[in-house]
Amino acid sequence: PLSSRPPHTTTQPETNFQECHSSRRPATVMLDSEEEYENEDELHSLNSKPPIHGQKRQRFGESQLTGTQDKKVSTANRDSKDFRCLQEQREQLPIARGRESLMRSIALHDVTIILGETGSGKTTQVPQYLLEEGSYHGQIAVTQPRRVAATSLATRVSAEQGQPLGTLVGYSVRFDERVSPGTRIKYLTDGMLIREMMNDSLLTRYGIVIVDEAHERTLRTDIVLASLKQILARRNGRRDERTAKGKGKANPLKVIVMSATMDAEKFSNFFEKAPVLYVKGRQHPVSIFHTSTSQNDYLDAALRTFFQIHVDRPPGDVLVFLPGQDDIESLESSLRLYASQLPHGVSDVVICPLYASLPNAQQAKVFLPTPPSSRKCILATNIAETSITIPGVRYVIDTGKQKEKRHFARIAGSGFDTLLTTDITKSSAVQRSGRAGRDGHGYCFRLYTEDAFNSMAVSAEPEVQRSSLTSAFLQLKVIGQDLDAMPFMDRPDQESVGSALRTLWLLDAIDNSRHLTDFGRSLAMFPLEPQYAAILLASVNHSCTSEVISILALLSSSAPLFTDSSSQRDAANEARAKFRHPSGDHWAMLNVFRAYDEVRVTEGKSGYKGWCKRNFVNQRALREAGDIRTQLRGICDGMGIDCNLSCGNEEVPVLRSLLRGLLQQVAFLQPDGSYKQVMGPSVVKIHPSSFLADKRSPAIIYNELVYTTNIYARGVSAVYKSFISEFPKLTGIRVS
Ligand code: CDP
Ligand code: MG
Repeated sequence: PLSSRPPHTTTQPETNFQECHSSRRPATVMLDSEEEYENEDELHSLNSKPPIHGQKRQRFGESQLTGTQDKKVSTANRDSKDFRCLQEQREQLPIARGRESLMRSIALHDVTIILGETGSGKTTQVPQYLLEEGSYHGQIAVTQPRRVAATSLATRVSAEQGQPLGTLVGYSVRFDERVSPGTRIKYLTDGMLIREMMNDSLLTRYGIVIVDEAHERTLRTDIVLASLKQILARRNGRRDERTAKGKGKANPLKVIVMSATMDAEKFSNFFEKAPVLYVKGRQHPVSIFHTSTSQNDYLDAALRTFFQIHVDRPPGDVLVFLPGQDDIESLESSLRLYASQLPHGVSDVVICPLYASLPNAQQAKVFLPTPPSSRKCILATNIAETSITIPGVRYVIDTGKQKEKRHFARIAGSGFDTLLTTDITKSSAVQRSGRAGRDGHGYCFRLYTEDAFNSMAVSAEPEVQRSSLTSAFLQLKVIGQDLDAMPFMDRPDQESVGSALRTLWLLDAIDNSRHLTDFGRSLAMFPLEPQYAAILLASVNHSCTSEVISILALLSSSAPLFTDSSSQRDAANEARAKFRHPSGDHWAMLNVFRAYDEVRVTEGKSGYKGWCKRNFVNQRALREAGDIRTQLRGICDGMGIDCNLSCGNEEVPVLRSLLRGLLQQVAFLQPDGSYKQVMGPSVVKIHPSSFLADKRSPAIIYNELVYTTNIYARGVSAVYKSFISEFPKLTGIRVS
């Protein structure tokens, strides 16, 4: 029974907020004039629907998009109202005022740094301006740290150019690509640009490389920046030499670094005092509220705060910042539950999740106009901090948490990466609150105290100093670089360098004198961690590529294979028991995939949805794994590897292959039932979710460690100790 409030607000106290200050972002300088843009009249139809062309995803190797039908659509589009409306929007973006001085600076300098508030138009406009100049040859690359940003931006910019996605404007992200020979602007993840360097070390196909979101300082962004510095020296030569000779080299490169925060000096110094241009965004004041006490349960606090806003405050969409996909999914379901019980007269709630691995079709929903008499509630990770601007947001709820990749070089001996939920930095908190002030006076509700805010770190440590370097090390080796010798903005942590070297050596990717081996070169061909690539290559020798590719595809999928079932534990356990395999979790995963493949054939699309539900398996994980499997098979085909080698129901070949990559993730049973790492000092337990949790196996391999009350190994299979003694590099290890 609801009166004016949803049930939880009557049973639980409201979250108490204290307004701290009404903040206006520090004044920045306009490119052309110092004019300020605070005028509400300037706000145009940002909510109008961007015409998004066909959402069909293209896989590597599929024929490229140059159909005549697409061309017709595009001509029609250019005359359409939607297209004209997009052009008006483009002209009204803050950056449009600075277009000329921007182009002037870029023409004059090899490197230009652009600083600008989120939403000012940097990412979408700068590449188009350069294209429209007509004076630059080659393609324009725009790097993004996250794949969802790359695909969403390419879609938007294609529409702004009135061309189908994948023709003039395209994207390239891991496991997905839409480009054609005529593509001039390509949005790609920084990881993909590094991959391209493996075949074209000077990036000769690009006339311009734009490094976007540079402030995030991801490992791959830092590698791109360091590589570009070297490429510039080789492609452009030295400045003074060029002027002396009166002309430059044949295929010079322009580099543009774009960032949302104020630390441009560091980038400028890194590129020999490159000029810095500022773009003043359209930022309205934002009132910031902190909770008066700290909140134990940020999901619950976010839920309550959302409904307080929804019931009490004027229209305007709400953006909630959450650490990760699992929290997003869990808040989404509780929001839906309460929203369905809202009393008559309270407007509807439209929930839009937004995270890195969200399928393209669902991303588009975030940008659709909010239907009349309803309120959009966007549940996002820190992707919405600066990469993606969502129009219509008036309220921000900030949990103050994020997922951060951390590398433990020492704890586990072998070193490993894990995603931890951590407190955000001050600079993130400021960015998050800023997202409320784009379309008018905004409100930001921080689910933490003002003291907590004051004790946050100012900005994040660069990722190069806190993540695993194994894959990066290998990729750099292939392009003839040594991680140690790269001109990084910040030096990587020596312990991580050592751990990466050790892993590559154990895998036989490098030899005793740190030279890349042929095997190492093959490993780098796969868009997989070197350990997983080693498993794949080993499966060729053990004649089980078919099984191993399926398992690796599932391991690479971003969603967990089994859905959460805490409310129906018995039913879930019963369903899962069908997939059980004595060797453990890897083969059980394979059983799920095999069953799914069969059901898809026998029951068709409508049938397998129900099947997934009944069996408590995540359909999204399987769909994504299916895509990845297709990709991996394509890559294998290209390398002359037969992907149909099958070991049928014999598990040993698969376990041997897995072991080949997971050499550092082996543990032996101890008398007390726990397991001791072979390559590290830690004692681990088998995670309760594992099929082997209540078994005692003399030796196990595992995918990952998770830290909760204990160190748990997750994704576990039992192996024979005799397999381990086959690896000469582990012979120092006593096998009892
Ligand atoms: O890079 P920056 O934050 O400076 O701005 P941008 O990403 O170029 O965004 C400029 C404008 O395009 C904003 O008003 C966005 O709302 C809009 N946009 C959009 O509607 N859909 C997208 N997929 C990307 C941008
Ligand atoms: Mg941007």
